[in-house]
Amino acid sequence: MSEPLIRVSGLKKYFNTPSGFLHAVEDVSFSLDPQKTLGVVGESGCGKSTLGRAILRLQEPTAGEVWFEGENILSYDAARLKQLRCRMQIIFQDPFASLNPRMSVFETIAEPLLIQGVFSKKDRTGLTRAVREMMDQVGLAERLINSYPHELDGGRRQRIGVARALVLNPRFLVCDEPVSALDVSIQAQILNLMQELQQQLGLTYLFITHDLSVVKHISDDIMVMYLGQVVEKAPAERIFENPLHPYTQALLSAIPIPDPDYKQERVLLKGEVTSPINPEPGCRFAKRCPQVTTACLKANLPLIEVEDNHYVACTLFGSAGAQHHAVRG
Ligand SMILES: Nc1ncnc2c1ncn2[C@@H]1O[C@H](COP(=O)(O)OP(=O)(O)OP(=O)(O)O)[C@@H](O)[C@H]1O
Ligand SMILES: [Mg+2]
Repeated sequence: MSEPLIRVSGLKKYFNTPSGFLHAVEDVSFSLDPQKTLGVVGESGCGKSTLGRAILRLQEPTAGEVWFEGENILSYDAARLKQLRCRMQIIFQDPFASLNPRMSVFETIAEPLLIQGVFSKKDRTGLTRAVREMMDQVGLAERLINSYPHELDGGRRQRIGVARALVLNPRFLVCDEPVSALDVSIQAQILNLMQELQQQLGLTYLFITHDLSVVKHISDDIMVMYLGQVVEKAPAERIFENPLHPYTQALLSAIPIPDPDYKQERVLLKGEVTSPINPEPGCRFAKRCPQVTTACLKANLPLIEVEDNHYVACTLFGSAGAQHHAVRG
């Protein structure tokens, strides 16, 4: 067994808002082996981006630990954090918003190399060679080197985002909805590119999306979040074959199945969404859960391993419930 590349333990991120503390990420723990992909899914506002940003320390976590290559990076000072940027990077959802419109393709991809001092501005030859190589690797034609983001289509813009993230040769990437803003046909191209790059460069991905069908093929494991909490985590195929948490089941039932003979039963969620500001203890999904009981409101629920590597936080799967439901799959 390989050592995990990254291990997150009890990670919390609270935002201090005028109405109280907003619990965006609540006690999230997982580990991720090298060259694997962990898909993170859940609806808008459940804390996916905050989790990704807190792991990279783009936003300081409120509590918890993030171990990367065997070191707790939350203890790093500014200088070590700057070095860490070479090894951990992020790709954003909307390349149009995340790319500087005044910077050409060359300037955008070269910038991290200059900031990190890999090349100096004087070494134009070396810098140009590195940028050209990176463009080639992400499938951007050389002739686009002096183009600006607004002159390019969404797919090419996202290729610039990928190139910029990869140019420092990182090992770990947070991919924050990298294809959600793209047309479906372009989505597949970018997903394929990301899978190829993962293989070629030995990358490890935390792949965030609100769309379960996007992570199905790219993920080794999938983690489902609801209002800051992880409600289920399992190997990707098990999430689809044997979803256990009522919220995961509802998410899955919303994916259209392209078979006219298949009668799909969609789980419609009723009830109000719990506020993430100073939330009450207990399952945050309880108010919308079709199978809620009084036990759900008592305390925060731990993730319980129900089958090999398949974890769920739900009162249906206490120690007795676990045996009962495990035989279903
Ligand atoms: N800087 C901030 N200050 C206050 N609250 C914030 C801040 N950033 C995020 N939040 C809140 O934290 C919660 C989680 O937000 P986050 O952006 O992480 O969700 P998300 O799952 O990425 O959503 P989406 O799918 O829309 O991108 C939301 O309630 C959001 O309003
Ligand atoms: Mg987000």
